[in-house]
Amino acid sequence: MLQRRAVFNTIREWRGKNVLDLGCGVGRFALEFARRGAYVTGIDISEEMIKIAKDNFKRAGLSAQFYVAGIDEMPLLDESFDIVTSITVLQHVTDPDMFLRSARSMLRVTKSHGQILLLEYAPTTPARFPTDTHMAGRSCSEYVATFEGLGAVLTEKRGVMIMKLDDWLTKTVHILRSQHGADRRVHEIKRTSTSKIFRLYRISRKFLIKLSMPFDIHLSPLPLFRNLSDLKLLLFQKEVE
Ligand SMILES: C[S@@+](CC[C@H](N)C(=O)[O-])C[C@H]1O[C@@H](n2cnc3c(N)ncnc32)[C@H](O)[C@@H]1O
Repeated sequence: MLQRRAVFNTIREWRGKNVLDLGCGVGRFALEFARRGAYVTGIDISEEMIKIAKDNFKRAGLSAQFYVAGIDEMPLLDESFDIVTSITVLQHVTDPDMFLRSARSMLRVTKSHGQILLLEYAPTTPARFPTDTHMAGRSCSEYVATFEGLGAVLTEKRGVMIMKLDDWLTKTVHILRSQHGADRRVHEIKRTSTSKIFRLYRISRKFLIKLSMPFDIHLSPLPLFRNLSDLKLLLFQKEVE
C-alpha cells in the first residue's frame, strides 16, 4: 500500500508513456501502470512469474509485452523507454558485477531525459548480509553513486514506511507471545492464522498502516525523516549524451 503511494506520488503522469517494469514479478505494478494508460513492457528472470503476469493481464483485459530475461541481458532497443522501474529487484542482485551491468543496461534502454525509478532496500548505511542471502544490503549512496556515475541525475529521494507503526505492533505481539512461551518469529504468528490474536493483529496492522500513511507521504521526502526508513525510493533522470 505504502509502496504504491510512494511510486504514484513521485510519478503522476503515466498515460501514453513507454514503461519498462524490471523484475515485474506477477505484474503487481505493471498492471497499475497499464491501468493508468502506459504502454507496458515487463521483464523477469523467472519464467513462472512471467506466466502468472501474462495471466493476470489477460484476466484484467489489459495488454503488455513480456520477456523472460535478466536485467543485464535485456533484448530491448537502446533509448526506447520514458520510464524504467525496478521495484524491490536490484536489492536481490547481490553480485557487484551483475549489479553494474544491470544498471548500465537500464541506462541504455532509457530515453534521454527519461526517468529511472528505484524502490529498493537501501539503508542509509550499508548493511552487509551473509553471502547466502538474497539481499544485497547496498546503501542508498551506493545506488546514487552507481547511477550518477553512468550518466543519470538524482531528482528525488524519499523513504518509504518511515513511521513503522506496524513494525512496533509486530514487535509488541512478539513480546506478548514470548511471555506466553510462544515462538517469537513472524512466520510463527502467521502460522497460527486462525487464532483470534492473529486476526486482531492483522486488523490493527492494517489500521496502523493507514494511520501512518499521511506522515509517510508528506514527511518521507525530508532528509530528517527519510533516513528513518531502510526502504528508499530514488528517482533519476537520464542526462543527454
Ligand atoms: C521481490 S520481487 C518484486 C516483484 C515486483 N517488482 C513487485 O514489486 O511486485 C523480485 C522480482 O525480481 C525478479 N528478479 C530478480 N533478479 C532479477 C534479474 N537479475 N533480472 C530480472 N528479474 C529479476 C524475481 O524473479 C522477482 O520476480
